[in-house]
Amino acid sequence: MKKIAILISGSGSNLEAIAKACFEQRIDGQIKCVISNVPSAFGIQRAKSFGLNAVIVDHSLFKTRDEFDNEIDHVLSKYKIDIVVLAGFMRILGKKITKKYYGKMINLHPSLLPLYPGLDTHAKVLQNRDKNHGISIHYVSSELDAGPIIAQGCISVNKNDTKNDLEKRIHSIEHKLFPKIINDICNEKIYLEDNIVKFSMDKSMQKIYEYYEV
Ligand code: GAR
Repeated sequence: MKKIAILISGSGSNLEAIAKACFEQRIDGQIKCVISNVPSAFGIQRAKSFGLNAVIVDHSLFKTRDEFDNEIDHVLSKYKIDIVVLAGFMRILGKKITKKYYGKMINLHPSLLPLYPGLDTHAKVLQNRDKNHGISIHYVSSELDAGPIIAQGCISVNKNDTKNDLEKRIHSIEHKLFPKIINDICNEKIYLEDNIVKFSMDKSMQKIYEYYEV
């Protein structure tokens, strides 16, 4: 069974969705540790409520980005992690660690990449009066929010939607799609080869991953 680490910085609702899926055996993998760079993150309590190992690696205690990354790597190595899942992890990881885990580290981003890498995606969608919004799940590369895309989920933006409305619907799509993708990665139905995302599954399943609307 694949050993999973989940990295968080905040509320951890995605961590909870993934943990639930693991306990209900919808993910064929085991969460070995949850790492938070924010000591007060609510996700740590969620992790503990599932009996998971919660490790705090407080970025503010490290002089350089490399030292912080090395400590993250140290924890990942200690738990012999196979798959690293960034689920609302709001720190940029450097070249060395992203290279080491290339093909084994995935990120969840709340936009239809390549649109809106970085922060405040819901505000940008509203500001630009976009008709659609969504999420992307991608392999992590050394460039911010730019690694090979595995799956995207789409929602429609309604006329009077607020940031909160978007966040709610984005979460509901994340909580459905992210655990499915993690399971397929655990089962090696999705993998990275020569920088290209490969799917060893039925074409109809791939379609669902390309366009998934709530
Ligand atoms: C999620 O919506 C995720 O897409 C986003 O943070 C939220 C975390 O929610 N991630 C990023 O913005 C990464 N750049 P959660 O803590 O409740 O899972």
